[in-house]
Amino acid sequence: MRVILGVTGCIAAYKSVVILRLLQKSGFEVFPVMTRHAQEFITPLTLEKLSGNKVICGVFDDRSTEIEHIALARRSDLLLMAPATANLIGKMAHGIADDFLSTLYLSTTTPVVLAPAMNVEMWRHPATQNNLQMLRKRGVVIVEPEPGYLACGEEGEGRLAQPESIVQTALEVLRPVKSLLGKKILVTAGPTIEDIDPVRFISNRSSGKMGYAIAHEAAQRGATVTLITGPTYLPAPSGVRVLPVRSAVEMRDAVLSHFADADVVVMAAAVSDFTPVTVEAHKIKKATASSVLQLHPAPDILEEIGKLKQSQFLVGFAAETQNPLENARLKLREKRLDLVVLNDVSQPGVGFQSDYNQITVISPDGECEDLPLLPKHQVAQLLWDRISKRLFAIAPEGARGA
Ligand code: PMT
Repeated sequence: MRVILGVTGCIAAYKSVVILRLLQKSGFEVFPVMTRHAQEFITPLTLEKLSGNKVICGVFDDRSTEIEHIALARRSDLLLMAPATANLIGKMAHGIADDFLSTLYLSTTTPVVLAPAMNVEMWRHPATQNNLQMLRKRGVVIVEPEPGYLACGEEGEGRLAQPESIVQTALEVLRPVKSLLGKKILVTAGPTIEDIDPVRFISNRSSGKMGYAIAHEAAQRGATVTLITGPTYLPAPSGVRVLPVRSAVEMRDAVLSHFADADVVVMAAAVSDFTPVTVEAHKIKKATASSVLQLHPAPDILEEIGKLKQSQFLVGFAAETQNPLENARLKLREKRLDLVVLNDVSQPGVGFQSDYNQITVISPDGECEDLPLLPKHQVAQLLWDRISKRLFAIAPEGARGA
């Protein structure tokens, strides 16, 4: 496991040495990054000698052909900012990239852990608290500072958390508790393909990325996961049983044959709503073809399993381009869902094919939570947090369903 240790300019910067050592003891390779102000407190040489890796301090440190912040972001498993100043927190919250560390944050898709350290009034300031709240919503894990005697001579919260608890948090983030151990989870992903003849078909723009990320995250959390997927170009997520299907009918049959056994079903697939009445055995010739294609409705899988559900926790998606909230709530009710994930696919860069997604999670009790635009693997993490909260809070074995 590789950790980028971001060190910013405050008196607690010297503790980054202890954090680095503890990370190494836990088996991590550490890549230190320092801001200009951090170098006023400790020298890059200290962290370089201890880590055995070059310490990056500036955007133009390396003139090789690689774009360094992108390359480093891709090579690592975690970005740990410790200590993190109010200035860095503000820049992260607002997407300001004016040095190597803040640029790195914008280019990373790994989990991010932040251990703030600052004066008590700076910590309590609404600007700092609002910025932290924005980052929490994006999935950044904050290791809260401790109360105590501060370098400025004042007392209060703001002292960097103990290095041991910072490293412990890093470990927990990277090796998440197997919170879904023993749960059987069924996920659908990708498009369906409705054949017209041997060379033509009706399909849609789903890449499968969202559903695969959901399946992968459930497996990471210890669940036994079956992924029923329409045709995609994605590699199978590790630890997941993958069942490939082609059409809506095939997906329906596969879902129905695994449904009774599932604890949770997440329907992220973009299933065709219509399918041709007949599939021609041979390529339709232009000269003899009718200009009208006869279609009939494809099975609505989610509606069917909504009717069948007993103790299963059912999560549906709603990909909408008009009246998104209204339509998503209608799906939640009509299909007897426990959660609906609204995907407003009219927004550019969101939903189909993108590596990013922005979802709104809506529950039957009226709760409606907008999550920020995030890489799909992070969307999957936040979605499982929301599902787990409800699954374990409101679903003592067999209590739901009616
Ligand atoms: O695959 P990606 O490129 O990563 O894109 C992700 C996504 C946009 C496909 C995904 O986030 C998403 O929104 N999936 C649902 C797409 C969809 O078909 O939405 P819908 O509103 O048409 O369907 C509502 C729900 O009913 C969905 O859970 C769908 O799986 C299910 N459905 C739809 C039609 C049908 N015949 N049977 C179904 O079960």
